[in-house]
Amino acid sequence: MILVTGVSGALGGLVLERLVEAGGAEVVGGTRVPAPGSRGARRVDFDEPGSLAEALAGVDVLVFVSAGYAEDDVVLARHGAVVDAAAAAGVRHAIYTSLAGSGEHLTIALAHRWTEARLAAAPFATTVLRNGLYAEVPAGLAAGGTDVAARTGVFGAPLGAGGISVVAREDLADVAARVALQADADLAAGRRGRHAGRVYELEGVEKVGGEDIAGVLAEELGRPVRYESTSPGATREALDASGLLPYQVGHTLSLFSNARAGLLAADRDRGDLQDLLTAPPRPVRRLIADAVRAEAARSAAESAAAAV
Ligand SMILES: NC(=O)c1ccc[n+]([C@@H]2O[C@H](COP(=O)([O-])OP(=O)(O)OC[C@H]3O[C@@H](n4cnc5c(N)ncnc54)[C@H](OP(=O)(O)O)[C@@H]3O)[C@@H](O)[C@H]2O)c1
Repeated sequence: MILVTGVSGALGGLVLERLVEAGGAEVVGGTRVPAPGSRGARRVDFDEPGSLAEALAGVDVLVFVSAGYAEDDVVLARHGAVVDAAAAAGVRHAIYTSLAGSGEHLTIALAHRWTEARLAAAPFATTVLRNGLYAEVPAGLAAGGTDVAARTGVFGAPLGAGGISVVAREDLADVAARVALQADADLAAGRRGRHAGRVYELEGVEKVGGEDIAGVLAEELGRPVRYESTSPGATREALDASGLLPYQVGHTLSLFSNARAGLLAADRDRGDLQDLLTAPPRPVRRLIADAVRAEAARSAAESAAAAV
């Protein structure tokens, strides 16, 4: 049996969808709050270690989706509890969604690398999927800058001249589902898993910087848009005032600093993404354009409603 954690989240949900579509394997979704009456979904809450024995009973292949939205101590406790519970429950192969090598200096890397080390010492086979940053990162910046760009023709972001290599979440879900199905098939056939002990770098193959985002905004808004790199200090002040939780401010600033330093641009020929996909990676600029269009439509609808 394959169990996917975090299935009400975007990545876990997509992985589960692919596994169910593929058919042929027994698949179950894990989530903190299963929908009332939902058949087959198991309650999986990493913050409740005592509940994990039941959650993981009978699971051969665990697709362990990281649960990174918290301070480091909380994330480490969560992830450690999953590794311990998987060992105790007799899980045979765990596939963990980690962070790509280009993100090594991000603050979020700490919890991922710690989890990788815990998994490496576990008594079951493991595969680490080092996921690149999602295309939602620049798409979010573009959407957030849509209104101002439409009014002023300027897109501001603290990215300096740096670019971020990003990947469509759908591609990462395709890879995770494929690896899980093959791991399950290998176990069923009594073969040594072809993915056992492997660490895959799923770096994005497209690099997106401030100029690129301004280009998409210009195209979608039908007007010239110029990129202006804003200062990290001003960004920190704005984030502090934005109502984000303290750890979110830290992680967000770390992302911008890494981008500015040119550390988030991956060597596009060195990753494993294209080898593990059965189709070319999805174009991320289209995802950014979709986000801008959705934001422009939302803003137009809001203005129309306000005018009534
Ligand atoms: N590569 C990137 O750019 C990037 C960006 C952001 C985040 N991430 C990491 O990738 C993970 C998956 O991304 P995503 O896009 O699917 O995020 P998402 O849509 O926010 O989903 C995260 C899911 O994590 C699960 N979760 C949270 N706390 C949990 C807990 N205590 N026990 C068990 N599950 C818990 C939840 O699933 P249920 O609600 O079903 O319990 C939640 O929906 C994130 O959690 C984060 O660690 C990566």
